[in-house]
Formats: sequence, C-alpha cells, structure tokens
Amino acid sequence: MTPNVDPAGRPLPHESARLHVAGEATYIDDQPELAGTLHAALGLSPVAHGRLLGIDLAALRALPGVVDVITAADIPGRNDCGAIVHDEPILADGEVHYLGQPVFAVLSSDRELARRAAAQAQAVLDIEELPALLTPEAAHAARQYVVPPMRMARGDADAALSQAPHRRQGRVQLGGQEQFYLEGQISYAIPQEGGVLVHCSTQHPSEMQHAVAHALGLHAHQVQVTCRRMGGGFGGKESQSAVFACIAAVAARKLRRPVKLRSDRDDDFMVTGRRHCFAHQWDVGHDDEGRLLGARVEMVSRAGFSADLSAPVMARALCHFDNAYWLPAVAIDGYCARTHTQSNTAFRGFGGPQGAFAIECILDDIARSLGRDALDVRLANLYGVGVNDVTPYGQKVEDNVLHALIGELVDSSGYRERRQAIDAFNAASPVLKKGLALTPLKFGISFNVVHLNQAGALVHVYTDGSVLVNHGGTEMGQGLNTKVAQMVAHTLGLSPERVRVTATDTSKVANTSATAASTGTDLNGKAAADAAQQIKARLVAHLCARHGVPPETVRFANDLVHVGDQALPFTDVVNGAYLARVQLWSDGFYATPKLHWDREAMQGRPFFYFAYGAAVSEVLVDTLTGEFKLLRTDVLHDVGQSINPALDIGQVEGAFIQGMGWLTTEELVWHPQSGKLLTHAPSTYKIPTASDCPADFRVKLFDNRNAEDTIHRSKAVGEPPLLLPFSVFFAIRDAVSAVGQHKVQPPLRAPATAEAILDAVEAVKAG
Ligand code: MTE
Ligand code: MOS
Repeated sequence: MTPNVDPAGRPLPHESARLHVAGEATYIDDQPELAGTLHAALGLSPVAHGRLLGIDLAALRALPGVVDVITAADIPGRNDCGAIVHDEPILADGEVHYLGQPVFAVLSSDRELARRAAAQAQAVLDIEELPALLTPEAAHAARQYVVPPMRMARGDADAALSQAPHRRQGRVQLGGQEQFYLEGQISYAIPQEGGVLVHCSTQHPSEMQHAVAHALGLHAHQVQVTCRRMGGGFGGKESQSAVFACIAAVAARKLRRPVKLRSDRDDDFMVTGRRHCFAHQWDVGHDDEGRLLGARVEMVSRAGFSADLSAPVMARALCHFDNAYWLPAVAIDGYCARTHTQSNTAFRGFGGPQGAFAIECILDDIARSLGRDALDVRLANLYGVGVNDVTPYGQKVEDNVLHALIGELVDSSGYRERRQAIDAFNAASPVLKKGLALTPLKFGISFNVVHLNQAGALVHVYTDGSVLVNHGGTEMGQGLNTKVAQMVAHTLGLSPERVRVTATDTSKVANTSATAASTGTDLNGKAAADAAQQIKARLVAHLCARHGVPPETVRFANDLVHVGDQALPFTDVVNGAYLARVQLWSDGFYATPKLHWDREAMQGRPFFYFAYGAAVSEVLVDTLTGEFKLLRTDVLHDVGQSINPALDIGQVEGAFIQGMGWLTTEELVWHPQSGKLLTHAPSTYKIPTASDCPADFRVKLFDNRNAEDTIHRSKAVGEPPLLLPFSVFFAIRDAVSAVGQHKVQPPLRAPATAEAILDAVEAVKAG
C-alpha cells in the first residue's frame, strides 16, 4: 500500500519553520544590498500641530555623510498615501498634524549618518505651533471627526429602554495597542528600466503599488511590489507600509539609486498608528434574568490625524457590538475622533474586539447587579437557533454552534465547581482574590466591503512533477502559504514537498486585496485550488483521450494518477501531457458568494459566515499591589474543519496572548501638553512574553465543519481568537469585585494594568 500523502487536515510545520528558527528566513533587510544603495532616515515633526514655515536644507546637507534630503517638493506625483480618503501626505507640506509626522528624509550611504542627520529635525524645522486636539474626548467635544459619524440601529431602542424592568448606564475606557511586529516597517526601492521595484514588508502589495505609482506619477504597470514574508504585520502593514514604500521610491527615482528605508523601533512607534482606543458609553434595559431588551451605545475612537482605515474599523466595531448575543432593539453611534496624533489603523480584529468588549462589560455589570453568575446572564442572551437569530445589521446567524461549544467548555473546564471553590477561597483570603470568567465570541468573516472579497492565483506544474504557486495573499507568519500549498497538493493528489509558494508579487497576480480580515486562506486557498483544478481537468482530458477511459476512472492521489486499474507516477503523466502540448499552468480566481452590504443603512450580509469560540480564565489578584497571575485558561475554538490544526492552534494561542497583552499590560501614554507618545519602546511599553502564558493553558479546536462551502470547509482563524482573552479581563474584574462581596461594580479600565487594578480595588473598597 502506498502511504497516504494527502496533506489536507494534517498538522504540518509552517513552510518556513526551520528557516525561522535557524535565522535563515530572508526578510527584506537580510537581502544582499545592491552597489550604490542609499539609506533613508526620516526627519519627524517635533510638534503635534503647526504651520511648516521652512526647512533649513543647507544645514542638513552640510551634515556628515548626507547625500541628499527629500521633502514634499521632491514628490513628482501626488503627495498622498491615504488608504481610502486622500488626506494623508507622504511628507508634511504646509502643515504638520502630529508629533512624529515625517517631514523630510535624509539619504546617506551610511544608515547611522542618515539617522544622525534626521535627528536634527527640531533644529532645522521652522514651525509655527497651532493649538492641537490631543484626546478623543477633546476632539469629540469639538465635533472633529475624520469621517462622518455612523449609526447602526434596529427596532426602537428608546421605547425598549423606557419599558424595560431594569435600566443601567455605564461607560468604559479601552486602550489602543501597538502591533509590535518583530520586523519593523521597511521598504527597499530599486530603480528599474521604466519604473521601480519595491521590496516592501506589507500586507497589501497592490495598494503599495498604487500609492507608489501615484507618488511617482507612473502607471501601475511601471511599479512592481514584492514581499516574500513579513516578520509580523498584525494589521500594522495593511495601509501604513505606504509612507515607507513611497518615500523610498521617491528617493530612488530622484537619485537613480537603490534606497532602503528601515525605521528603528522608536521611529516606527512615533510615525505609525495602531489599534484605536475606544471610549464606550451605554444606556441599556434588561429583564429579571438579565436579558437585554434595548441598548443605546456611543463609541468614540481615537482616529488620529487622518482617516486611514478608521471608518471600516468603526464599521466592524458596530457590527461586533452584538458579539454572541441577540439584541431586540439597539442604536449604536460611532465617532472617529480626529486628534493630532498618529493615524490609527488595522490591528487584529479590526475594531471587532473593541465593539464586542462593550457588550461584555454591559453583561458583566448586569449580572453583578442581579447577583447572578455572569455566565448565566451570557447564556440567557445568546443568539438562538432558528429564533432570535438576526443581527442588528440584518444578517441571519445560520451557523450558530455556541450552545454546544459553550456547553462542552463549561463541562471540560469544570466551570461550575471552580466557581464554588473560588468563592470559598475568597471568603478565607482577604488580600489575594481569585476570579473566574467565561466569555464567548462570534466573529464575522469577510471584508465589509463586498468587492474586496476576491483573489487570484497562478499555479505552474513543471515537467519534473514539482509545483510552484503564487497567489495574492501575503505571508506574515500566520501560515497562509503552508495552507495554500496544502490545498494545491490536496487537489493534485501530491505530497506537500512537491509544492512551493513564492513571494507575493504584483507582476504575477494583479489587483489583489490586503491579506486582512482573516480572509487570506479563504480567498487565496480557493483561488489556488481553482487553478490546480483547471490543470487537473486538462490532465484528465488528456489521459481519457490517451487511454480511452471515462473521466470518473481517473483519480489523483499519493503522487500517482490512477487511470482505470493503472497507477502512473504524477511526473510521468505530466511529461506525457507536456509532449502532447497540454497547458501545465493556470490562473485561478475566487469571489466570495452571498455577500451584500448597504454602507449607508449599515444593513445586509457583510459576512459569509461566523467563527465562534469561548474561553474560561482563572486569575489570582494581589489587591495590595494590583498584580495578577493567570492561573489557568481553557479555550474551545471553532476553525471549522481545520486545514492544519498545528497552525490553527498556533494562531489561537498567539491571538490569545496578544489580546491579553492589549487588555492587561500594553498601555499607550501621550504627553498631555506636547502630544508626544511617551511609550515608544519596549522599555515603556510592555508586551507579553512567553513567561506570561498561563501555567495551565488548554487549547482545543471545536469539532465542526463550515456550513458554507469554504476551502476544505475550514474557517478563518487569524483574528477571531483575539477576543478570547476577554475572559482574562473579566476574571480580573471578578476578583476585584470579590473585594466588595460582588456588591459594587468595579470601575476597571482596560488595559487592566497594576495601577488600573489598584484604582478599581480602592474604588470598590470605598463602595
Ligand atoms: N499571525 C502572525 N504570526 N503574524 C501576523 O502578523 N496577523 C493577524 C493574523 N495572524 C498575523 C497573524 C491578522 S491581523 C490577520 S488579518 C490575519 O493573520 C491575516 O492572515 P490570514 O487572513 O491568512 O489569516
Ligand atoms: Mo488584520 S487587522 O485584518 O490585518
């Protein structure tokens, strides 16, 4: 018997795992530099808002090693790299909008000298300072927004509120988050005959191609953007790689030399935006069981100085306020506040986590006010199956597995017994308090903008039986290329070693969407499988003609092609087809079906399907220091039928820890007068490390198949699990609540840093 080589569903290692750990995976800064390469360094605005009166270029040019200085005046095309709204200058012109905004770029053959010269920004810039809006609250009060306010509504929220037996108001502050990709933003631009080639660490090569073409006044066909892999993106390289790509390209074109722009970590923090912080305010009505009857919610995000992706982030926040829960009457208003700070952008979950966090706070409050276990209030509010199953945006929840999933997790985690044990522990422990929480998630998969849900691929079969795949998605560590290769190998009945995926390249697959919204495998996996399927169909037709057999008798498996009762090596079949002049390569395409969305009304079916999950976390809080320890976490997460359970579990664990960092230790602080981001390095900004993983971490994939016809009936996994660590935050809140015998609502803000926890403990003690 031939061993089964089909890679579908197997926990294969990441295609670059060995290269990653050996340090042999090539990132852009690892590529051999071409002769004549110049290094760029950015001169940043030292003020949050002001009129740019002049730049002392002569002083800059006189500094050691400086070859040239690039300013807005050197941009031959349009000085704009805004993702959707064209409100984002590549280099400041006339006005500066935040402290850290790039104003000029210094070029030198020595990177250190370029940086030293760029650091003279304060001395060479002549800026007349203007008043600045530094907080979302101030901007909201001044009604300064980057896009018009949004509203999503269903039913009569006001009537529901006034008729409800119980009514509660509340508010919560939710911090932003730095992507902290290990490989910082980088672009390496190389002049080409008639255009430019840009190696760019980006989730969105096509958008970089467009931005560079506009900046240079070139056609798209003159600009090639390529990316083999990123050392992490997390949403931070969806739009914000553009400023780096454009500056490198402008300099390369002007000086006719290769130009590399790699920011160091501090500059990366100062220049780029991150996850939006949100302030939520609500007024809700509920019954005696804690079921929500009506909700009025206001969400204000810190958009920063330009629109970037703030509008779609807010739209997703509104679409995820419901999280896992049925809301009969709801009205949500979203405001993207324009502040004189970095322009905030995508970050894993894309507003979804911020939106869903609000309702979890609300249900947690309601449970405490009724003296019920928060789990029971959550269960009472879950979407029904066949009843109470329409979201506030009008999409029916057709694939709800939450009841079974949560039931299984409640049992496997021993939630009920541990609740009792924790109550007993807390009764006997005045200083150390334990807390427990189970939080569910439902996350919509697809881009909210229908046309973005398309992908292309190119598959080449060579005469030695090896296969080369190219697709529009980008690899950022999530394992996209591994999964796509698995699906191509599966389609052609090949072992995974036969299939290799190459760098994303705008000259191979055109008009691609960002690898974002967790859709990478859904879209590109289907497109690549489509291409492989076409090649397979041609091989079948060829074999049928040659062997005089019907198509049903031809089967591809185990590196063989079974034709009737013969088993032919795949390589022989391919060679025969080549000699018979059969096309052995193909393009492939996929467009997600069933989607429609009315952006104005905020109604439709924005999502092809939903991913689900739930987590139980138990913490120990020291109420004298505000420190906490995560004792145990149990996760049950739905990835449909997994293409690769090892990669999927890696994504679930990674998202959990990353989300926990967001909600507990990662705090962003801007100086209240200058608007300078003070937390711009790991010295002041604390991301979680391996030692922050819970000592007892039990992650399981829920046994499921996607109800929709997705690739391998799998589900997207990149972002949804970022909501799982809500369980950590609410377990901390539960522990703090124990200080006041669960009679007082702890005013715990996120991130729940030691200071925030102590503040909440003091407030609870004060009653
Ligand atoms: N995993 C790793 N290792 N590195 C990343 O940068 N980005 C996340 C997620 N998982 C990321 C990651 C984000 S924000 C998204 S949208 C998805 O991966 C994108 O990839 P996918 O669509 O292929 O899942
Ligand atoms: Mo992910 S935030 O959609 O790049």
